[in-house]
Amino acid sequence: MSNTALFGDKTIIEERQGEAMEMEGPVASNGKKLFLESYGCQMNFSDSEIVASVLIREGYTTTKNEDEADVVLLNTCSIRENAEQRVRNRLTEFKKRKENKPSLVVGVLGCMAERLKTNLLEEEKLVDLVAGPDAYRDLPNLITEVEGGQKAVNVLLSREETYADISPVRLDQNGVTAFISIMRGCDNMCSFCVVPFTRGRERSRDPHTIVEEAQELFDKGYREVTLLGQNVDSYRWNLTKKGEIENPEKPTVNFAQLLEMVALVDPELRIRFSTSHPKDMTDEVLMTMAKYKNICEYIHLPVQSGSTRVLEKMNRGYSREWYIDRIDAIRKYMPNCAISTDIITGFCTETDEDHQDTLSLMDYVQYEYAYMFKYSERPKTLAERKYEDDVPEEAKQKRLLEVIDKQQAHSLMRNEQAVGKVYEVLIEGTSKRSDDQLFGRNSQNAVIIFPKGDLQKGQYVNVRVVSCTAATLLGEVVVD
Ligand code: 5AD
Ligand code: SF4
Repeated sequence: MSNTALFGDKTIIEERQGEAMEMEGPVASNGKKLFLESYGCQMNFSDSEIVASVLIREGYTTTKNEDEADVVLLNTCSIRENAEQRVRNRLTEFKKRKENKPSLVVGVLGCMAERLKTNLLEEEKLVDLVAGPDAYRDLPNLITEVEGGQKAVNVLLSREETYADISPVRLDQNGVTAFISIMRGCDNMCSFCVVPFTRGRERSRDPHTIVEEAQELFDKGYREVTLLGQNVDSYRWNLTKKGEIENPEKPTVNFAQLLEMVALVDPELRIRFSTSHPKDMTDEVLMTMAKYKNICEYIHLPVQSGSTRVLEKMNRGYSREWYIDRIDAIRKYMPNCAISTDIITGFCTETDEDHQDTLSLMDYVQYEYAYMFKYSERPKTLAERKYEDDVPEEAKQKRLLEVIDKQQAHSLMRNEQAVGKVYEVLIEGTSKRSDDQLFGRNSQNAVIIFPKGDLQKGQYVNVRVVSCTAATLLGEVVVD
């Protein structure tokens, strides 16, 4: 289930779990088939499109059928322990498969590759190939090494790699919505998070290649792009962290300006972005969002905790008051903006009082959606080195359930508020429920289902919401 199409009956939104991706027709086939399975965040799914692009250029065809694969690559996630466990189980399956088909190449990509490096080859003997997030250009060589009877590893992290010149093949495309990666890595060092170790230093991609990619997608019929980065608010081109100009000969671009550049590609192209960081989200970004109708009124603003004391321990760089100020600013510029968040329960030293602070913050914001997690200690992170994982499992679980309950009530309330209102919806495809129904999202990112009529995906249509559950809005097309 995608992170964007959330809120089925499941309110704990985990990382996406192993989806095989496929696309049509290679350039000149080398006769080999690639089975590529992705886990985790949107960035990983976007990276898989780079991986596919690199290998399709070499003549590989992608397949969704693991039985016919010559090369199996799993693009993995390390964010929580259970994400890694799932991949290990999957790798054990492929190890068995290799017993019957010794020529099968099995590789691990992404965050687990970077975190575990050669362990997966040597100690666990689960794979032939390990490639970190900055090593995807090297994949053809690495596969050749494996085919020559060796094990292959490239886990070098780069300060420059943005894959700016690689045009991603759109896997599993609906032809309407696509991701564009605008930066890589993260420099924030939140104390619970493994990402700075697995994805390396933050670097921004050349803005002109981003605008070009958006334009190309639009020309192919796409009508929505999501700009991706771990912390999009710190996107900067030709600017230092302090905001000083690096090269006076070249133009500078910050995130607000990048948003504007992409918004100007075409008023019919919707823009979304993820993820925003409360410490860096500026009023300039909010004003730009308010100025352009095609920049969607939706912000994912992870809070993690409502307690300033815990936020400090998490090294998030903001207090509860600061976060509330950012929420107030969003509401000031865009009263109808939807806001979602990430929450961790049971972080080191979290008391019941801290937990109550999280619940009261949720009451203040009344999020449209939330992704909610129990704290999972990750090796080498600041928290693992400095603090004890001292909240008992039962307390973590109890608090998580309370957070989920509250969120469900807020989601239902938000959906009920939408009933009777008319929204512009971008149609993304046929509903899973029935072939006679379409689904799409409004600017606020809520999924709305409505009767098909003569409509098609890629069109904008006005829909009145007639009823809802906590998960979905049901609507009817408004004829003007
Ligand atoms: N334990 C639990 N949740 C975590 N996240 C990141 N690291 C951890 C961890 N160690 C959550 C945060 C982040 C989201 C992507 O995953 O809420 O925003
Ligand atoms: Fe992890 Fe924090 Fe960076 Fe997000 S901002 S990827 S939570 S370190």
